[in-house]
Amino acid sequence: AETLGAAAAQSGRYFGAAVAPNYFGEAGYASTMDREFNSLVAENAMKWDATEPNRGQFTFGGGDQIVSRAQSRGMTVRGHTLVWHAQYPGWVGGLSGNDLRQAMVSHINGVAGHYRGKIHSWDVVNEAFEWDGSRRQSIFQQRLGGGYIEEAFRAARAADPGAKLCYNDYGTDGVNAKSTAIYNMVVDFRNRGVPIDCVGFQSHLDWNSDLSSYQSNLQRFANLGVDVQITELDIGGSGTGQAGAYQRVTQACLAVARCTGITVWGVTDKYSWRSSATPLLFDGNYQKKTAYASVLAAL
Ligand code: XIL
Repeated sequence: AETLGAAAAQSGRYFGAAVAPNYFGEAGYASTMDREFNSLVAENAMKWDATEPNRGQFTFGGGDQIVSRAQSRGMTVRGHTLVWHAQYPGWVGGLSGNDLRQAMVSHINGVAGHYRGKIHSWDVVNEAFEWDGSRRQSIFQQRLGGGYIEEAFRAARAADPGAKLCYNDYGTDGVNAKSTAIYNMVVDFRNRGVPIDCVGFQSHLDWNSDLSSYQSNLQRFANLGVDVQITELDIGGSGTGQAGAYQRVTQACLAVARCTGITVWGVTDKYSWRSSATPLLFDGNYQKKTAYASVLAAL
């Protein structure tokens, strides 16, 4: 195959990118996005601050542009993200108790309901754990208690029964205290019938990151009966070092039957949120980097 998406599709997987609709008018951006990827995710456009800037007033302009772009090209869409400690509007921070709980559920209903039937997988809850495996003390954790995660998953299932529901986090790129805490949460959810279908591994890495337990970590989650997805891949570095790390991550996903897809967190180094790290597969002129070739070969 000659593109990332087509190569991934050979094994039934997707290869996606995080995108921003404000770049769709740039020819190199649009042509690279449309050619290489068969899945899109909104880098920011479906977050709470973008979709419900005022309570009960939903704005879907950016997200809708991404969904229609994807649909017209036969791409799937990941939804990112419904409940997160960052990028929520100011009014949310002023709520507490049942008021915050109602706002969270109505936000999930509003966004997942709007996109019902159009989303392959939703990142229902993002980044709820700390490195040591404890819960992050977000406003949701502090004001709603630890049960907010399962409340969010149940609300998302009701709002879009066809979407796979994922828990998504970073620093979970191996067997460690954080990934083990998430693993234990998934075990608990499966035992109690809380709806969860997938776990997202953001994988914001560097070329020399320790990947020795990357594959075995994906596999232990898959063994619980959930899909695993690499959701925000970017790898700081350049040249063969960067290419080697991309190759290892791609090979790890391919070796795990339930690893259903890989998403890179941007199209081009030019617009990466880690721009100084040049962590993506296309350079600022939309030229394929060495890492691109290593990923394509590994798919
Ligand atoms: C980042 C975006 O890439 C930036 O444009 C934005 O300013 C901040 O958020 N983990 C996540 C993503 O789940 O939503 C974050 O995206 C990167 C880290």
